Amino acid sequence: MPTLEVRGLSKSIDGHPVLKDVTFGLQDGELAAILGPSGGGKTTLFRCILGELTPEAGEIFIDGQEVGQLPTERRGIGVVYQSFALFPHLSVADNIGYGLRARRVPADTASERISEMLDLVHLQGKENRFPRELSGGERQRVALARALCVGPKILLLDEAFGSLDATMRTQVVQEVRSIIRRQKVTTLFITHDQEEAFMFARRMIVLNDGRVVASGSPETMMKHSDPFIQDFMKMVLFADAIVQMGPDGAPYITLDGGAKIPVHIPDVRGGEKVHVMVKKGAEAERIEVWQRDAK
Ligand SMILES: Nc1ncnc2c1ncn2[C@@H]1O[C@H](COP(=O)(O)OP(=O)(O)OP(=O)(O)O)[C@@H](O)[C@H]1O
Ligand SMILES: [Mg+2]
Repeated sequence: MPTLEVRGLSKSIDGHPVLKDVTFGLQDGELAAILGPSGGGKTTLFRCILGELTPEAGEIFIDGQEVGQLPTERRGIGVVYQSFALFPHLSVADNIGYGLRARRVPADTASERISEMLDLVHLQGKENRFPRELSGGERQRVALARALCVGPKILLLDEAFGSLDATMRTQVVQEVRSIIRRQKVTTLFITHDQEEAFMFARRMIVLNDGRVVASGSPETMMKHSDPFIQDFMKMVLFADAIVQMGPDGAPYITLDGGAKIPVHIPDVRGGEKVHVMVKKGAEAERIEVWQRDAK
């Protein structure tokens, strides 16, 4: 049984059909990306899953339960938004524990859980800071800890990394991904950015003009005829590789054709397995994004 199942979902806004018969499912612990161009219907889908919008047709199941009649707070969904939406007047600890207080969890249980979450997102020692005293990546991890703190059945991220600058983004995406994988929470990641989708998920669900036009691994996407997918895929190749160390200590991988390319993965060790997306640039091939656990 999928943990999240969306079946035949249709939704119009102002008489304009935005979602058209959208169907997909996420297995327990699966990490999938909803990918599609701006205006494709991603946020509308997200809001239907959350229960902020009521679809005209179709059903949504979470853990086998049809949630059409359930209010947002009873659907068991954790959310991270692009803007993080942290409470500026609350400390890191109070932001993380917000959902526990709302559920009237006793103070000692709550502080234990908050402490676990601080460990999980590596923010021990920063619990008394305010959001304005944190970097973008740290804020992102507070938002993630807050979403995970109440133990949601599913986690939704809507353009969650859009406000980070490019250099920081790759690292933060990888960190967030590894935290989510350790928690084994079923996660739907929404983005218009193909690189982000690849960094995050091994399965992509492409939503274009309100319809699911493709679903599968990045490799299967390469063979797909949808123009949005093709446009992007012609610039990249995917590979599973084992990191090697050069004589100068610089890590690299060897592609099937024999090409050796450097990898810029923090703290990477020789022998580590990685799944990489290599962008074909005008100059030498360069690795821009990767997944460490090649699963
Ligand atoms: N409140 C609204 N009123 C009218 N039209 C809306 C409203 N919300 C969304 N739409 C329309 O629905 C379509 C899908 O919008 P949606 O926000 O779901 O797209 P998206 O895929 O999230 O785009 P983006 O990548 O830009 O965030 C768009 O054509 C948009 O103009
Ligand atoms: Mg959107």
